[in-house]
Amino acid sequence: MKKLLSLIYYKLTPLFLKKILCIVTSNFRHKELLALHDRPWYAYGLLKSAELAKKKGYSRFTAIEFGVASGRGIRILSNYKKEIEKIIDIKIDIVGFDTGQGMPKTNDYRDLPDKYIEGDFPMIDKKKIESYDCKLELGDLKKTIPFYKKKLTTKSPIGFFAMDVDIYTSTKHALNLFKANSNCYLPYVFCYFDDSGGRHHFTRFTGELLAIEEFNNSNKLRKIDIDRGVWNEHKLIPNQIWYDRCFILHVFDHKLRKNSRIGKKKIINF
Ligand SMILES: C[S@@+](CC[C@H](N)C(=O)[O-])C[C@H]1O[C@@H](n2cnc3c(N)ncnc32)[C@H](O)[C@@H]1O
Repeated sequence: MKKLLSLIYYKLTPLFLKKILCIVTSNFRHKELLALHDRPWYAYGLLKSAELAKKKGYSRFTAIEFGVASGRGIRILSNYKKEIEKIIDIKIDIVGFDTGQGMPKTNDYRDLPDKYIEGDFPMIDKKKIESYDCKLELGDLKKTIPFYKKKLTTKSPIGFFAMDVDIYTSTKHALNLFKANSNCYLPYVFCYFDDSGGRHHFTRFTGELLAIEEFNNSNKLRKIDIDRGVWNEHKLIPNQIWYDRCFILHVFDHKLRKNSRIGKKKIINF
């Protein structure tokens, strides 16, 4: 019976009907599969990291937003956290990094100074943001990252982050957080780089993409690559523009990325 229902839903039900069913039942996972959440890229990354953390035996993990501004993104993240904690037995700690004063001053071409001015996107109500069940680390990432790096804990490893600080220098500082002991992360860290695709001014030579390239060049066993599984997870819907902005930080030196299988060999039957 279950198989029959599944066949009807996945193979025979048209997409618009699936969407209606999803909205009516408001099932977080089904909504995620059809990208019906407000920020499908946050829903996807947070859900995947929660599933991975659970599968690997963790009881909690940390999700970070770099660049909080007025808190729109962190509020959404916090709503998803509540939904995910209901369906997966895991706790999620949310942390937001921001200057609190908006964009820092820069005239470096790699920061695209023609696109931003000092003070763009300030934080308006810090207390309100803190009420979204998150912790805020306020100050320039240049200073807060080295400080926070010392506070990293294996009890709540980082499993997801959204990068939304817009410019090269800030992204470079943020990525320094991923150079600590491998146990402070999940073996695969799902990540979303908001300013890496979808606009003409994004290039490999500036901004977030340049910071990613430099991170990869300077770390042998930590690499950030595009998420090559995201489209496969959403086969029910047409290709989405945000897939290009989903990445995974591969922690190749993680203890859970070593060969640990014991037992029978896998056999391909035909
Ligand atoms: C586009 S806004 C973030 C938008 C937010 N994520 C949202 O979803 O509404 C970019 C933010 O990055 C922050 N930012 C940029 N460079 C930073 C730095 N070096 N240190 C701390 N915060 C920084 C700015 O303060 C700004 O609020």
